[in-house]
Amino acid sequence: MRGVLISFEGIEGCGKTTQAKLLYQYLKERKIPCQLVYEPGSTKIGEKIRKILLDKKNTKMAAKTELFLYLAARAQLLEEIILPSLQEGKVIICDRFSDSTLAYQGGGRNLGLEKVSQINKYATNKLKPHLTILIDIPVALSEERLKKEEKDRLEKEGKEFYEKVRNTFLFLAKRAPKRIKIFNGDKNIEDLHFEIREEVIKFLTKRGVI
Ligand code: TMP
Repeated sequence: MRGVLISFEGIEGCGKTTQAKLLYQYLKERKIPCQLVYEPGSTKIGEKIRKILLDKKNTKMAAKTELFLYLAARAQLLEEIILPSLQEGKVIICDRFSDSTLAYQGGGRNLGLEKVSQINKYATNKLKPHLTILIDIPVALSEERLKKEEKDRLEKEGKEFYEKVRNTFLFLAKRAPKRIKIFNGDKNIEDLHFEIREEVIKFLTKRGVI
């Protein structure tokens, strides 16, 4: 496959959605064929799954139900958008991908990294992002940034849950330092965009995309 998959990861409020959009705009301006998607969602079926997952009324959702719903949304996104776009040689920017499942369900929900990783591999046909931008912020800053917003089902989780999620992200980055690059999210949007851009340009150049 000629395309490239770049994922953005991090806990709530880290700024990854803003950064994913800025990178997408930048690549578009440079006339590099690209596409921006997010998880869970970006397909009709995925959006329905997203509603179930984030609905705060679903207080009884079992951890395994949650896991399979995220994977179901991912499998759909893969078939419908990611695989065809990779075949076309596009750069796909994905706002969250498999590392979120490892961090939130494997770490946060204690389902275990190995188990979750195995099932995830089945859902994704073993497709891994070629580059992952992990935007790291302390949990206290995440809470501060989310203060004013109405919280969804996941955001209602406490500090302990988010510490586990953040630590799992950092562990995954340590385990795969070539793929997962850590950025400090506690800085202004423009400076962070510039740093991420540099990393992505370096990466795309090395792969012969630009
Ligand atoms: P968002 O806030 O980036 O839109 O993501 C929605 C929520 O879903 C967020 O709380 C993280 C969570 N999530 C998981 O728990 N597991 C996953 O596999 C993914 C993709 C997201």
